[in-house]
Amino acid sequence: MKVLGIESSCDECAAAVVQDGKTLLSNVVATQIPFHAVYDGVVPEIASRKHTEWIYAVVKEALDTAGLGPGGIDGVAVTARPGLLGSLLVGLSFAKAFAWARDLPFIAVDHMLAHLYACQLTGDSGTGYPFLGLLVSGGHSIICRVDNFDDITVLGATIDDAVGEAFDKVSKYYGFGYPGGAAIDKLAQRGSPDAFRFPMPNLYKGEHPYDVSYSGLKTAVINQLEQFRVKKTTGPEDIAASFQKTAVEILLRSLFRAAEDTKLSVVVAGGGVAANSYLRARLAERRDLRCVFPPPELCGDNGAMIAGLGYQYLIRGDRSPLRVTASARVKDFKRSYP
Ligand code: KG4
Ligand code: ZN
Repeated sequence: MKVLGIESSCDECAAAVVQDGKTLLSNVVATQIPFHAVYDGVVPEIASRKHTEWIYAVVKEALDTAGLGPGGIDGVAVTARPGLLGSLLVGLSFAKAFAWARDLPFIAVDHMLAHLYACQLTGDSGTGYPFLGLLVSGGHSIICRVDNFDDITVLGATIDDAVGEAFDKVSKYYGFGYPGGAAIDKLAQRGSPDAFRFPMPNLYKGEHPYDVSYSGLKTAVINQLEQFRVKKTTGPEDIAASFQKTAVEILLRSLFRAAEDTKLSVVVAGGGVAANSYLRARLAERRDLRCVFPPPELCGDNGAMIAGLGYQYLIRGDRSPLRVTASARVKDFKRSYP
């Protein structure tokens, strides 16, 4: 079954064709980065307009690359949440029109679940369900138990900023570049992670042991730089490396605690921040955990993960009605505390 996947939740206009939920026939990602970079952040109105201008060409290229016409598609999957509402509506409306015109099975999916599915497009999904999911993006930081492609239980989440958002904000403040995550990751390669000691939040003693928080770190890095300085030699590389180290350690502290308590030893990561090289290196050190990452090009937003996840719903017989709407926020995932 060849599924067309469309993703337009933020600043990537993306479409892909995936066969049987795992074989990529095409994966087109048209990034709007240059249009937002001048503002050091995504401008929602520009994002929606660009999606409207580009969506036809992006879908056409995905079909052409797969060597298919519209008649070669067996189902349509699209992101319906979470994301920027105006951007989501462009992809969603295009996908509905495509499905209606061709009378195709149609499914609207949650793009956070799709990020978790991205690993399966490389044929490596860990050792099957259940596993621990680490969903880290510009909008979310979620540690969860994953029992199926559509069944996750949130164990911990950010209580304020998302980890990717912290990367983006710090980068914006220091002028490291946009988007911030990749810019800081690159800069940090040349810096010392121990040049600055930034604060770690103290959440673990409370009743939410797997939650994370980034607003304190972000504020410390941005506003109170001087008081955390432990060395005299400072450059942007050192700030980037020290911030990155702390940001990742905050995540790992909760993740490792969750792994210990749940006895789950497979971790599957997804989302833009899963591309982070320090995060990957730190997780690779843990011999007792098996950590599965999507290839860097499938960490960020893409249509392939939407098509892959959509296939799983479609073969189960699930369909979305064509009246389905977009929503800016993530659907309420089940939440559980020990
Ligand atoms: O999943 P994604 O493409 O979009 C959202 O759903 O948010 O994630 C984008 C986020 C941005 O905050 C970006 O700065 C971050 O992922 N990111 C990174 C890296 N590459 C992208 N963060 C840290 N290190 C990276 N290498
Ligand atoms: Zn995303």
